[in-house]
Amino acid sequence: MKQVYLDTYGCQMNVADTDRMELLLFHSGYIRTGEVKDADLVLINTCSIREKAEQKIYSLARNLKPLKEANPDLILGFTGCLAQQEGERFLEKLPFVDLVIGPDGVEHIVRVVDEVKNKKVSVVRTQFDTDISYKIPELSGETPLNPGSTTFVNIIKGCDKFCTFCVVPFTRGREKSREAEEIEEEVRLLVSRGAREVVLLGQNVNAYGKRGLKRSVPFHELLYRIASIPGLKRLRFTTSHPKDFTRECILAYRDIDILVNHLHLPVQSGNNRILNEMRRMHTIEEYISIIEELKTVVPDMGLSTDIIVGYPGESESEFEDTLALMSKIKFNNSYMFSYSPRPNTPAQDFPDSVPPSVKSARLQRTIELQKKLTLEQGKLFLGQVVDVLVERESYKPGADFRGRNAQYWSVNFTGDRKKISIGDMVKVVVEDATGHALRGRAI
Ligand code: 5AD
Ligand code: SF4
Repeated sequence: MKQVYLDTYGCQMNVADTDRMELLLFHSGYIRTGEVKDADLVLINTCSIREKAEQKIYSLARNLKPLKEANPDLILGFTGCLAQQEGERFLEKLPFVDLVIGPDGVEHIVRVVDEVKNKKVSVVRTQFDTDISYKIPELSGETPLNPGSTTFVNIIKGCDKFCTFCVVPFTRGREKSREAEEIEEEVRLLVSRGAREVVLLGQNVNAYGKRGLKRSVPFHELLYRIASIPGLKRLRFTTSHPKDFTRECILAYRDIDILVNHLHLPVQSGNNRILNEMRRMHTIEEYISIIEELKTVVPDMGLSTDIIVGYPGESESEFEDTLALMSKIKFNNSYMFSYSPRPNTPAQDFPDSVPPSVKSARLQRTIELQKKLTLEQGKLFLGQVVDVLVERESYKPGADFRGRNAQYWSVNFTGDRKKISIGDMVKVVVEDATGHALRGRAI
């Protein structure tokens, strides 16, 4: 068999796309290798969400040049969001690259690789799918991929929101949902192969099912359908948009036992003027009201969010509104970013009035605050018994296993190796809380 080296940058959607490419390539005679020097085909699945991600990929690409020079038969390709964004430009900057394909090219990876091989030309494929729904055709036969106890399932791709700072609608195209039956079938298959927790994935997961399907299926209906699949012990989803967060979705948290008590709901800013400038289509009051309703239904709801600091024109007091919101909601975790302008987005043309030093000072303040909040939230678990889905053995000294509780805290714990296996749901008493992780003992 030939060997393919695959590397992934960016979000979970990219991880899922890389897995898909691995599977398609396996069926056409490639096996994955962890050694780039042994590979006949090297594919880097790229991200372009922020400037830093883009710079990282370009410098990686330059580092791969000697490998290609030493082995002209090597096929070197770049896939994913940066590939989509740059297209032909990528080849102009890096002429030694053989293929550039966007996220919608994943299903065509084998054909594109063959084209490069047979015609001895570089290929750029950045057109979006024209179908109105999104299919992931099943591949029969052997698979090199076995799901862990937790696994991801794509249910929708693309985004129609067009927040002013965000490149995703340009790199991943319009929203397209998968037929619910196809998703159910995939989940059944994954459960039969050992998956116990499924994370439904989409850039905007709760916009699922609005159009393109044979019959429109609201997101909450999909949740009930997936939750009823025998053998599934936990259900999560990510990432949501507050605008699409319906009352029915809140009630699903009350009614579905296996839907975890955790929600990742990006807020981006704690200030209404900035939210309006960002075209987020909701206010802080609306955001807080979703959280309050959720907390009435599920009091121990764990919350996490995404935050951008230093958006063009953000004043000191507008930034402080973000800190105030973080303290009010008490997020378990925040993914915090300093704003960077992205190609094609409206915000790239706004005067970026916040100097880099101010942006990084603001970022530092959010990181410090979040650290404090995480520690406080973690300490609330001390002495409590939590349900942990065992994902793997622990790398931490003095702990045997590692898993997550429902609120998405990672938990390292000691337990009897003869009695506990990967994929088990174990009761753990929490004895310590350090930063993002909890420690405890199986009971
Ligand atoms: N600059 C900084 N952060 C950004 N994000 C998206 N676009 C940008 C940008 N231009 C962040 C948002 C989003 C997360 C995935 O990345 O917080 O929710
Ligand atoms: Fe980007 Fe906004 Fe779509 Fe999220 S909702 S992917 S931030 S455009």
